[in-house]
Amino acid sequence: MKIFFLILKYFHINNIKFNYDLEFKNNSNDNFWKQNTPLIEYCETLGINVPHYCYHKNLSISGNCRMCLVELQNSPKPIVSCAMNAKSCLANGDIHTNSSLVKKARENVLEFLLLNHPLDCPICDQGGECDLQDQSLFFGLTKKRFYSFKRVVLDKNIGPIVKTVMTRCIHCTRCVRFAAEIAGVEDIGMFGRGLHSEIGTYVEKVFQSELSGNVIDLCPVGALTSKPYPFVNRNWELKNITSIDFSDGFGTPIQLSLKNNQVIKVLPGYEKKTFKTNWISDKTRFSFDGMFSPERIIYSFLNNNQKESFLNLSWQKLFKEFFYTLYFQNHLLKHYFHPCNITICLNRNISIEVLNLLHILTHKHSFFKLRQSESSNLNVDLEENFLLNSSLDEAKLATSDTCMLLGINPRYEGSKLNLKLKSRYLKGNFKTITIGSLFNLTFSNVTLSSNIQILKSLVEGNNLFCQEFINSSNPVLISNTEVFKREDIYGVSNMMKSLVKHINLYSQGTDQCRLNILNSTLNGAGFANFNNFKTIKNKDFRNSAGIYFINSSFSTSNMKKLLNLKLLNFFQNYKHKNKLLITQDNNLESKQLAKFKKNFDITNHLHLPNTVFFENSGTYINTEGSINKVVKVITPLGQARNDWQIVRKVFSYSKKTLFLTNFLKNNKIVFNSRNIRQFKNYAGLQYYAVSNLNNLTFQFLRKVTKFHLENLKFKSAQKKLFKSQLRFWLNDFYIDGKDVNSKYSSTMIQCSKLLRLNNTNFKY
Ligand code: SF4
Ligand code: SF4
Ligand code: FES
Repeated sequence: MKIFFLILKYFHINNIKFNYDLEFKNNSNDNFWKQNTPLIEYCETLGINVPHYCYHKNLSISGNCRMCLVELQNSPKPIVSCAMNAKSCLANGDIHTNSSLVKKARENVLEFLLLNHPLDCPICDQGGECDLQDQSLFFGLTKKRFYSFKRVVLDKNIGPIVKTVMTRCIHCTRCVRFAAEIAGVEDIGMFGRGLHSEIGTYVEKVFQSELSGNVIDLCPVGALTSKPYPFVNRNWELKNITSIDFSDGFGTPIQLSLKNNQVIKVLPGYEKKTFKTNWISDKTRFSFDGMFSPERIIYSFLNNNQKESFLNLSWQKLFKEFFYTLYFQNHLLKHYFHPCNITICLNRNISIEVLNLLHILTHKHSFFKLRQSESSNLNVDLEENFLLNSSLDEAKLATSDTCMLLGINPRYEGSKLNLKLKSRYLKGNFKTITIGSLFNLTFSNVTLSSNIQILKSLVEGNNLFCQEFINSSNPVLISNTEVFKREDIYGVSNMMKSLVKHINLYSQGTDQCRLNILNSTLNGAGFANFNNFKTIKNKDFRNSAGIYFINSSFSTSNMKKLLNLKLLNFFQNYKHKNKLLITQDNNLESKQLAKFKKNFDITNHLHLPNTVFFENSGTYINTEGSINKVVKVITPLGQARNDWQIVRKVFSYSKKTLFLTNFLKNNKIVFNSRNIRQFKNYAGLQYYAVSNLNNLTFQFLRKVTKFHLENLKFKSAQKKLFKSQLRFWLNDFYIDGKDVNSKYSSTMIQCSKLLRLNNTNFKY
């Protein structure tokens, strides 16, 4: 039996390249020779994995597990490879990573680690992906020499995200260093000494950080595991597939673990640009359960004028019903003076393909009007006006020493941006100035004011900060799309332009714009790149015969405003009594919907169930301007269909119905909607054509733009600027974002409850 294990061990070692015999010598041609790289990292670049627990590339060196010991030729004792730099070690002689001394040292370290470690593997969530399991198999001792009782450590409750089983902790302090250095919340620490060492929060408290879930991946053993999904699956049962994050504007790569057509867990993916994995937010990691919540509607329904309801109708019947109504409306057009439009209301998460198709639809039948559900006064002429520009690249940000945040909280709107700024801050000589609500960015910053009027004093040069601004090098200005929803945005954007003009003046690389706009929705940049659609307004409600909501929430500020206007009897000359409401969504906010239907006298309601993000394929442009293509990873449930499939059907049915009037004169855009391949090519072509046209327009309009730039002098008499505050729009990070799923996610709801509880002195 023992021989069998030895053979098994031998093959394992050789197969996974863990520990092949190595001796490497000083090579003066090697680039790493000149760098202060830790020896362990140097070994990794040569393809030799030195076993380690406490070392992590993105965290400071701890050097307390002693698993990474290697032998240095002239050293009497083995050395800790994660805490020594490669340059000094190689200067002292050859290094052996698999000598008998090293093997003995590893055996001893593992023996100590396992002294108090429980025999929990069968019931441990880390089983199958546990470093301790692997390394004790490869490097451990097969004998046992410890027969006393093992020590017991009580589990800590650190919130609804992370489950703790502290007896399994090996005190590598990765979680402690992550909390302090990356999350910026020094809630976790090590207390007690020697045998009584414990990791915990000292007093019982929640680990309140938007990045807290990352400690689950960091912990090399099963001490910190995922609380929402305990005892669900073993790692080897899951199929891994890559996708992107849907919860913010970055579209960060993620890795999905699937089983039986279900998403089991979400892990950080590999970023091709930077060749590393990212930290992901708790929303990215855990809010996907909202997509598959019990409230999700996967079957169609129809409520008609006679107050009859039909459930689970076939798609054929649904489209027939839709087009009968359309035909009727179209027929009426001949008798009415006013047009009877069908307003299509979109949100900014919709994919480029669907956007293209809808755009073609509106060209074919002009009674379809495209509107967006939320207001946006973005200037979409130049891409730099709605994207995070290259000035935020790691190398370029390193040359900058000042950053101004205007009405934005990067910590909750795009944690990736906040991490970038924080890492720049930690390198030193970096100042962050914020204008807007007071918030904790996890690194030091100065808040000037929350009143927008401060911009005026900055532009006029009457502010104390102006001098620092002049002395700074390559300053960057970051704002978000929410600021562009203000009524006085014309004045604000003019002042922002003036400020950017000054910023560019003090920048060494004058060719690039220093204004950065963060989009909080997945396809916000794609939406802006495509076109600046009008916002849905009371006029649309008044004139439309039907409203077609695609993935649009009824609880956005704009929709709430319209509802309130109706309550105030603002829509007096209301044209169409029996409006048609079509909802294409996977979750309906029933309360808001009922209110909406009641106030707008809607009796005809047609629901078309559509797929969720992971059941969909599509193209999205992220806030940095990169194109992300995602593919369907799971099969849709029930009657749900992709948005583009539904809109394509609308298209083909519209061909079958004879619409008598209201065609556009220029009816040149035709394509064969039956052939999907052609359709996809066509949609792709459309996107590239539109984006290129967009770019070309600026070439043609260069003169006008230049003229505009020359006249940037602020004239207070002409531009309006309200004396109002820049209030932060996101009240609750967990459930209030622009993605539609998090408010249905049970994990996010629990986190939100705890956050509210901690922020109030009322106890329920
Ligand atoms: Fe087993 Fe690893 Fe869990 Fe320890 S942490 S019980 S070694 S699976
Ligand atoms: Fe390391 Fe995990 Fe213990 Fe933290 S809980 S010190 S990450 S083993
Ligand atoms: Fe080097 Fe822990 S990895 S001491």
